[in-house]
Amino acid sequence: MSRRFSVLFVCLGNICRSPTAEGVFRKLVEKAGLLEQIEIDSCGTGSWHIGKGPDPRSLEAAAKRGIDISMLRARQFTERDLDTFDYVVVMDRQNLADVKDIWHQNGGTRPTLFLEYGQSDLVEVPDPYFGGQDGFERVLDLIEDAGEGLLGDIQERMA
Ligand code: 4NP
Repeated sequence: MSRRFSVLFVCLGNICRSPTAEGVFRKLVEKAGLLEQIEIDSCGTGSWHIGKGPDPRSLEAAAKRGIDISMLRARQFTERDLDTFDYVVVMDRQNLADVKDIWHQNGGTRPTLFLEYGQSDLVEVPDPYFGGQDGFERVLDLIEDAGEGLLGDIQERMA
């Protein structure tokens, strides 16, 4: 039995990008037959949306690709997450800076940018909150690509 891994996706509100990443990545992990070995969660650095479900535009964009994220509820990042998750992958530089401030004090898992695992030239998953539906489709594309790379990284460590 190979070792288990845990992955935490982090954005600002935990209602657009990171719940989408959680849903997309869970589907990739399921396809790979690794649901028992990989734990997946998401959170936001902000507190505004705690307890709320994903933004309707994220729900729609994910549903179009056969992914249901309607059961997810937003929670806020805590320093304990750096002790419990093997991967803390963050959507953009501002949120990475905020998580890193806590990491410098707390130690634990070093947070990284999610798109480091992808093929795109982009460094950040753009915040779609104040834009239109096309921004949410773009988020899905970037997340699918980086999710494949992240899963590959975990599988290499499992081997
Ligand atoms: P997320 O998007 O960080 O991808 O969940 C946002 C959600 C809410 C806000 C900003 C970004 N907001 O300002 O409330």
